[in-house]
Amino acid sequence: MDFVIKVGTPEKQRGACAVVGIFESKKLSESAKVLDRVTQGYLKTILASGDMDGKAGTSLLLHNVPDTLFKRVLLVGLGKEQEFKQKSFQGALANIFSSLQKTAVTDATVFLSDFPISDRALDWKVSQIVVVATNSLYRFNQLKSKPDNDQGHLRKMVLCIDQRTDLAACEAAVQQGQAIANGMSLAKDLGNLAPNICTPTYLAKQAKDLAKTHKMKASVLEEKDMEKLGMGSLLAVAQGSEQPAKLIVLEYHGAAKKEQPYVLVGKGVTFDTGGISLKPAAEMDEMKFDMSGAASVLGTLRAVAELKLPINVVGIIPTTENMPSGRATKPGDVVTSLSGQTIEILNTDAEGRLILCDALTYAERYNPKAVIDIATLTGACVIALGNFTTGLMSNNDKLAQNLLAAGEQTGDRAWQLPLWDEYQELLKSNFADMANIGGRAAGTISAACFLSRFTGKYHWAHLDIAGTAWKSGREKGSTGRPVPLLTQYLMTEARSVAI
Ligand code: BES
Ligand code: MN
Ligand code: ZN
Repeated sequence: MDFVIKVGTPEKQRGACAVVGIFESKKLSESAKVLDRVTQGYLKTILASGDMDGKAGTSLLLHNVPDTLFKRVLLVGLGKEQEFKQKSFQGALANIFSSLQKTAVTDATVFLSDFPISDRALDWKVSQIVVVATNSLYRFNQLKSKPDNDQGHLRKMVLCIDQRTDLAACEAAVQQGQAIANGMSLAKDLGNLAPNICTPTYLAKQAKDLAKTHKMKASVLEEKDMEKLGMGSLLAVAQGSEQPAKLIVLEYHGAAKKEQPYVLVGKGVTFDTGGISLKPAAEMDEMKFDMSGAASVLGTLRAVAELKLPINVVGIIPTTENMPSGRATKPGDVVTSLSGQTIEILNTDAEGRLILCDALTYAERYNPKAVIDIATLTGACVIALGNFTTGLMSNNDKLAQNLLAAGEQTGDRAWQLPLWDEYQELLKSNFADMANIGGRAAGTISAACFLSRFTGKYHWAHLDIAGTAWKSGREKGSTGRPVPLLTQYLMTEARSVAI
């Protein structure tokens, strides 16, 4: 999709379709007022006919509107003007795209003054539109012999603003929105791919390709390298699989070498059967999405590189399958992690934390400014927060606040859970330094407590994306989350570094 920012109102523009807002009940938005004036009251006549009253979710496509250079005018219902908030804006955008997709319209002109959200700036609206529009065109066709071509014809959007002084900020917002959308699309593709294709080896190849395109540095540790280092915990998960495990490291340098990097660590379990603690068969196919943390790291690095942010970012991806076999880890096995701490593996299905802990210890060598791990870690997080909200836990309040704010800003929201010392007791083992599970109660927090034992040397936050990384049912597929949250966090950090 192409996006163009223009300064102007509807009277002098031309195009295939003007999109103008109507509030409840029958109240004209700014651009609707202008269009009504130049058309001698045409819009008011239409509204008076009763075919549309401006309720949220409604729309009406008009043809041959007199005295205008637009071939069509799409009226979009915005609901009550006083109640117009971020959520109404997102609803209106979804409405616009689904209405236009059914038509032959190739380019549409939207007037940003129609959307009066008091606490959001113009450039925020622009990047939201770019992300939602690009997402509405996403299809996963790689594995189909005939692609689904149901995207309609819309390929260009003209976004109109009132003041020339806002032009530069809005044009920058187009770029930011496009970078976020491109990062999400990469994350979605990797998540949606079948697990016989998206293996650890495949992810490593993707990281190398990404590095080549965007002048980053990719390196891959093989199992023998991990053995030498002493990553006994990661290797314990990998030993049941025929697919070799990898530790992928991707380095983006947008600032001087000496600047401390932000490190993103993504869980890359390309299929989680549970291992010997085997999962039930129903919906097990969805465990191909258990590499969504890894996918979000690659997606975010793509966005960061496209935006050429003036910071350093390192992505670390421990990746493996979790399979049952004669060689697989058994419940009761004790392993030694890279940190030297020993772990009693009571449940082989709690494998995410076992691969993350070695990657988190490995992260120490980068002298990080902050480390954020992203993982589809616990079913308990889906029970606690559902599919709307990512779980956030951190050993640093400032970092937690900044991530929460980035989630609010992008609508890719997270909610913080406590990491108090009381919970650490859940991980007590009679036979090793710790157990890898803490029981059913507070399952999301005990998983984070486990990780916290490997992150004492730096500021760290953990994002549990078990509920938000993909959708189930008829809409089954990756969401590309939390690429918006992570990219926004890094953009804001880059801005404060630049000043
Ligand atoms: N990948 C799963 C978590 C998961 C389950 C995400 C369902 C989304 C939907 C993880 O590896 C896992 O199996 N966790 C266990 C931990 C338990 C054994 C302590 C879980 O949540 O059941
Ligand atoms: Mn598991
Ligand atoms: Zn898992």
